[in-house]
Amino acid sequence: MRSTKRLPRIVVLTGAGVSRESGLATFRDAGGAWQQVRMEDVATPEGFRRDPGRVHAFYNARRAQLDAVAPNAAHLALAALEREWVARGGAFLLVTQNVDDLHTRAGSALLLQMHGALRRARCLRCGQSFDWQGDTAVDSVCPRCRRAGGVRPDIVWFGEVPMHLEAIGEALEGCGLFVSIGTSGSVYPAAGFVAGVRGRAHTVELNLEPSDGAALFDEARHGPATLVVPEYVAGLLERFG
Ligand code: OAD
Repeated sequence: MRSTKRLPRIVVLTGAGVSRESGLATFRDAGGAWQQVRMEDVATPEGFRRDPGRVHAFYNARRAQLDAVAPNAAHLALAALEREWVARGGAFLLVTQNVDDLHTRAGSALLLQMHGALRRARCLRCGQSFDWQGDTAVDSVCPRCRRAGGVRPDIVWFGEVPMHLEAIGEALEGCGLFVSIGTSGSVYPAAGFVAGVRGRAHTVELNLEPSDGAALFDEARHGPATLVVPEYVAGLLERFG
């Protein structure tokens, strides 16, 4: 028999750590992206203006990697949580800082990619964004306005405003359970979500190690995402079963 316990609205925030065990490097761990290249060169509008070829090459390589990786047990557990929570009448939103497509491929549908997506591109000439599968280049032609020279990865760079902030803000406003997974908590505004919901929502960190904001969470489980996320999800579904 199902309990009549009121289901808290869940907001989950994920970062690069959730995709690490699928084979995608994080940003700030040893061997991470920001140890290979300078963030200013490949993840700022200034870097793109200075050397667009280098920026296209960086994201082309990362986009190509997606073909070689698959969702892991953590992505799958979050997709299962969404399905189960919604089936029980609960509200759920997954917010990710990740630009890979692994949450989508795992089956997550209530998902907002606040830092953009590798498989999308945008045209600086007409302002439209669209799905993009292969490489982007300085002479790529926009499928919307048919002009060349304005296509860029649809990724949020430093100094730019993250996507979906209004919808994310609304979800955080009403959330009763906030779970942060695989993020160092060093990039705002995402790093500030936990402070914003504290007091109203129960806050949980699932990460390999304590993050920069670890002290702000009510509860923490430290370990690899493929272990701690399925375990946490199973416990949650049982508690509210
Ligand atoms: P970071 O590289 O800053 O942090 C990754 C976090 O994942 C760290 O706290 C690790 O301890 C943890 N981690 C590593 N392996 C893990 C595993 N197997 N299981 C669980 N946790 C693990 O990545 P993000 O916090 O996602 O933005 O970085 C935030 C943003 O900074 C990115 O979206 C990107 C970057 O610059 C842009 O490019 C705009």
